[in-house]
This record gives sequence, C-alpha cells and structure tokens, in this order.
Amino acid sequence: MVDGQRSRRSCLAVPGSSEKMIDKARGLDVDQFFLDLEDAVAPLAKDEARDRVVAALNDGGWDGKVRSVRVNAMDTEWTYRDVVQVVEGAGANLDSIILPKVSTPEHVRWLDLTLTQIERATGLPQGGIGIEPQIEDAAGLVQVDAIAAAPRVRALIYGPADFMASINMRSLVVGHQPPGYDVGDAYHYTLMRILTAARAAGVQAIDGPYLQIKDADGLRSVGGRSAALGFDGKWVLHPAQVEVVNELFSPRQEDYDHAENILDAYDWHTSAAGGARGAAMLGDEMIDEASRKMALVIAGKGRAAGM
Ligand code: GLV
Ligand code: MG
Repeated sequence: MVDGQRSRRSCLAVPGSSEKMIDKARGLDVDQFFLDLEDAVAPLAKDEARDRVVAALNDGGWDGKVRSVRVNAMDTEWTYRDVVQVVEGAGANLDSIILPKVSTPEHVRWLDLTLTQIERATGLPQGGIGIEPQIEDAAGLVQVDAIAAAPRVRALIYGPADFMASINMRSLVVGHQPPGYDVGDAYHYTLMRILTAARAAGVQAIDGPYLQIKDADGLRSVGGRSAALGFDGKWVLHPAQVEVVNELFSPRQEDYDHAENILDAYDWHTSAAGGARGAAMLGDEMIDEASRKMALVIAGKGRAAGM
C-alpha cells in the first residue's frame, strides 16, 4: 500500500534518546511511531540520539507500523545532520520524516532535494521516504495549501502546543477552550484549515498531542472533535492513550457496517440497471453517488483499521 494511504489512527511519540522507551514502543498497538530528535531530546543529547535512532530503525521489530523520525526544525543547526545521518544510516527502514515548525513550502522543498541526493548516493529507491510537515505557527497556517502540495508530503500534522504559543492563545492546556472564550470552539478554524488543505492535496491530516496523560475524558473530547471533522489520526504520548485514540479514529462498528451495506446496495442496483441508474433505495434511505462517496470514506477507514 502507498505510504500516504496507510492507517495513521495513532502515532506514538518516542524520545530518540531513550532506549527504554524505544523498546517499549515496539510492543504497543499503534499504527505509526516517530523517534523524536526535536523537543523530546536535550541539545547535548542530540548526537547520541541520532545513533540510537539509526540503530532502533535497523534493529526492526516494528511490526507493520509506519516508521518515522522527527528531525529538528529548519531554524536550528541540527536539521541537516539529522537528515543525513538518519537516512544514510537507516533510510531503507524509514517511511517518513516529520519536519516540525514548517512555516513555508521552502522547508519541505529543501528536505525533498536533500532526500533525493541521499537516495541517489546510497541507492535507495527514489521518492520512497515521505515528508510529514507539522503546522505549528501562524506563518505555516497561512501557507498551508502550498505546504500540503509540496513534494513528498504524505500527511499534515497539527502541532497544537507550539501553535497556541505562536498565536498567543490565552490557555495553557492544549485542546481546552481558553478561559473567556465562550462563543464556540477556539480550535475549529485551525483544524478545518489544515484538514481542507490536506484533502485538497490528497494527503492525510493528523491531530497533534494531548498532554494531560491521565485525563482520558479530556483526550476523548479533544480527539473526538478532530476525528468527527475527518482527521485521520492523532498523536499519543503514553501507552494509556493508545486504546482511546485507536477507537476514536476508527469508524464505529454500526457506521462501518452501514457504509458497507450502502456500497453493496448501490453496486447491486446500478449493475442491475446496467449502469443506467444513479440513485437507489436502501430501506427508507435514498442513496446516490454522493452517499456512495461518504460510505467509501467510512468503509475505507474501517478496512484500513482491519474491521
Ligand atoms: C507538537 O509538536 C506540538 O507543538 O503540539
Ligand atoms: Mg511542536
């Protein structure tokens, strides 16, 4: 399956500097993981973390998960070395690079060209490694359409903590409504903007982390919002969050069954009419080409989740 279509319901953040957490991550039921070289790793630990990340990818044991590494942002002195060392050392065992704080499509283009050179130099398949830009500031959001359409992009990721800081939002709790804002959801515009850009470019849209690890209800409510809008998945920071997030981003069983019924009924009616009929009935429900498309979305998510 093309990497950009693989299931990314849950994406586990794993500090690249922690052998213990890397080992633990292998056994967790997540669709994707990323070994972090950015915010989870202290400046003095970056060199050692790169070696550890290369070894962890090459040692394997990741069991069909999408394998990603988050490199440092383009305004640091670490990015090029992260990319060269990780891709030269473990490019054959890497599906995508997460690029944080992308504020212009130029950041993605730089990474695309650098990956192309490393692939040529090392004999890796051209274009095999995808890019997942994080949208984490106002500049990135303003340019999100061009970022989504840049080369190799497989998914856009919302980085809520950095984003809230970048716009001076008056809240310290990621995903919670800022006190004083009582006229709706303060995150709706940002989420919808990212989702629309992702869909227009045909890539996935992933929601970022929820930091209150012990608050499963909060996770359910914050994650439930992006899941309901149509996001494909969400980051998880701790094993305790995995089950909730996998459930939130899988269709409910009854919706999945209903979607498959719509597809079956629509196919049956249209083929019985020799392709001449555009609408059909399923019980009391009228189904047409648009309902078929909606059903395909739910059925596709369910099939990818193994339902
Ligand atoms: C993630 O990187 C975030 O800033 O929320
Ligand atoms: Mg961030």
